[in-house]
Amino acid sequence: MGSDRKSRKARPPAGPIAGQELLASIEPGRTTAAQAALLEDDDMNPYTGKPFSAQYKAILAKRKQLPVHKQRQEFLDLVQKDDQFLVLVGETGSGKTTQIPQFLLFDEQPQRQGKMIACTQPRRVAAMSVAKRVAEELDVQLGEEVGYTIRFDDNTGPKTVLKYMTDGMLLREAMTDPQLSRYSTIILDEAHERTVATDILMGLIKQITKTRKDLRIVVMSATLDSARFQSYFGIETTTVDAATGREVTATRDAPLLTIPGRTYPVEILYTQEPQESYLSSAVNAVMQIHQHEGEGDILCFLTGEDEIEDACRQVRARVGELMAADRSLPDLRALPLYSSLPVPQQQKIFMPPPGPRTPGGPPGRKVIFSTNIAETSLTIDGVVYVIDPGFCKQKVYNPRSRVESLLVSPISQASCNQRAGRAGRTRPGKCFRLFPESAFKSLIPQTIPEMQRSNLAATILQMFKVGIKDFVHFDFLDAPAPETLMRAFEMLNYLGAISDEGELTKVGMAMSEFPLDPQLTKALLMGPEYGCSEEMLTIVAMLSSPMCFVRPPDQRMEADRAKAKFDHEDGDHLTLCVVYNEALKHMGRNAKSDRGDGGDQGKQWDKDFFWQNYLNERSLRNAMRVRSQLSSILERCGYELNSVGEDLQTVKASRAIRRAITAGFFMQVAHLQQPVRKGNYMTVKDEQVVRIHPSSCMKHHPEWIVYHEFVMTPDFYARTVSPIEGKWLLSTKTNDYFDLATFREGPMRRELTQLVHLAQAEKASKARMKESDRKSEKR
Ligand code: CDP
Ligand code: MG
Repeated sequence: MGSDRKSRKARPPAGPIAGQELLASIEPGRTTAAQAALLEDDDMNPYTGKPFSAQYKAILAKRKQLPVHKQRQEFLDLVQKDDQFLVLVGETGSGKTTQIPQFLLFDEQPQRQGKMIACTQPRRVAAMSVAKRVAEELDVQLGEEVGYTIRFDDNTGPKTVLKYMTDGMLLREAMTDPQLSRYSTIILDEAHERTVATDILMGLIKQITKTRKDLRIVVMSATLDSARFQSYFGIETTTVDAATGREVTATRDAPLLTIPGRTYPVEILYTQEPQESYLSSAVNAVMQIHQHEGEGDILCFLTGEDEIEDACRQVRARVGELMAADRSLPDLRALPLYSSLPVPQQQKIFMPPPGPRTPGGPPGRKVIFSTNIAETSLTIDGVVYVIDPGFCKQKVYNPRSRVESLLVSPISQASCNQRAGRAGRTRPGKCFRLFPESAFKSLIPQTIPEMQRSNLAATILQMFKVGIKDFVHFDFLDAPAPETLMRAFEMLNYLGAISDEGELTKVGMAMSEFPLDPQLTKALLMGPEYGCSEEMLTIVAMLSSPMCFVRPPDQRMEADRAKAKFDHEDGDHLTLCVVYNEALKHMGRNAKSDRGDGGDQGKQWDKDFFWQNYLNERSLRNAMRVRSQLSSILERCGYELNSVGEDLQTVKASRAIRRAITAGFFMQVAHLQQPVRKGNYMTVKDEQVVRIHPSSCMKHHPEWIVYHEFVMTPDFYARTVSPIEGKWLLSTKTNDYFDLATFREGPMRRELTQLVHLAQAEKASKARMKESDRKSEKR
């Protein structure tokens, strides 16, 4: 790598502007921290050629205080050596995500060779928010030199040199650019999170570096568990043993840079007893802290949007009451943070807390109710108190029952410690764990990598496309369970994406183009065949967006009544289509933007419609954008765009759509159990008893249903449900999943046997009718 980089000559300066001249005069791959300081302290922005703003200078002063700043030269010395890999470990908030890519940007100047630096993030919120911050730090427009790419939203441009992106998006790029040739450096950030995409990228990139000696990899992690990354990215060296004359191969660990943390002690407090409801305990804890503890903001970890919004409402109401009664009580601002929150709302967490209510009085504070995002991905300055109920929503997958679900589960000890650490960033803090100490001791030490608790079908499909076929020998940091791999193959085979010989089929090729779950893609691809691609595009886009129905706890009846107006009697999938079509009539022509930037939604946008109908406008706008992207992929893959027509109430329309859905989700069907009034269903292969989720529009109990999601809360529910006809399951399009020989003796097998007999009888009677018709014609 070294010779290649060092031979590059600096091009003559582009113009007479000081910063640009300076940038052009330094030799890529050989810069120093002092040169970088000259550039950053200059008056002119080397990227835009404009004078730096006052905000730039204020932020620069703050950046210089970050722990990574002191080690800039040390970092440069390490990356300028010949090693392709570098592992970097540092406490959350030390400046890894925002600063390291900038350090590299100045040193490498990828723009000179038309390349970019990529920095991956497991979470979309982090990718967006950090890109915005770094654009401000470099004093450039977001989307120009610095941009971000997340699923269904690419905010980069021709000038982009630093791109924050989700790990999933980089993996997706590898499908069309297997050498990741657009990048000079790839930073895998938050590697400790061990998401499936980051894990696969690690293995993939390790392969790529064998041929791309110019590619540099920085693996960044917030935990000290770096030894595994170091040995995984170890460098193989071959030397000749002088005594024996034989070649000896040895592996040397990848170099490591540790950024010492700047943390203060955090006092950990436990509850005496387990708490019945962690949500109300959390809200109580917030109120206690606000009334009795000293200055400082609060960070409270909850598991999802509904809970978080609920907690915010409760705190606002209680604070309002207290403040009315007590003029001396300072203000407390409750703020939510979760992934589907629009950007401007996300940004509010970085705003300073409210000031004192009376001159000279105590300052107010903010409380942030957040999902796991705030555990390591985002750092909020000023947090002194952390409230940790000990839960998060996690993917769990049971390969035996093929059920993958998001489940509220206890976190690991490592996670608890990360969360507690958030309290000691600016001064000594406190962490309130809402469980007894004995419960802490029974938690698992480390979070299990996502690879080992996910359905891997989508991942395998992507790996196939990238050219990895030998999963058994793939260099995984932690290999998935063989059963999980087998199930994934099996599913792709049932969906027709992989042939019996293990080759990617034509359908599989098309499927891999879509950033969707394989079953959803299959349903979408069956649209054209059943004459309903337009409708399937709508349904799939709606299913890929946050739920569009709003149901505020204090207006449930009104919300349900509003929703009922859209209900289609043939189920939730069709209902989604109805809602979308109705919403479309009330959307402005240019209602494309969902970046939450106020965007270009035009004047025709009828906000009242959404408000009155308890619909989430943002989610529908998002669905519209997703739909148009899916539509172009569908066309690009050569599929026909057809429609059942405007009226979704006709039998023909309803059947076509439900058949297409069944063709994708035949592995998620269930059969009604006796007695009917109980409304219990049994899922097909794993024979799990499940009920229709109360949010469904279906008020009756059809014999067979297809469902989009299996939720455990802790009762088992099928969510987003439509009635189907049993005989559809036997059609050849759904392959041999329903091959009776694969079912064990039991109620489901009897049910299916009956279906087969019925189908045979129907066929026979049709044949007889034809025969008699033919005979009567003859006569
Ligand atoms: O990646 P790491 O956790 O090491 O830190 P970082 O994300 O680079 O954040 C470093 C600092 O940048 C934080 O402590 C914040 O002060 C600031 N920051 C911010 O103000 N706004 C953001 N959106 C991100 C970071
Ligand atoms: Mg970070």
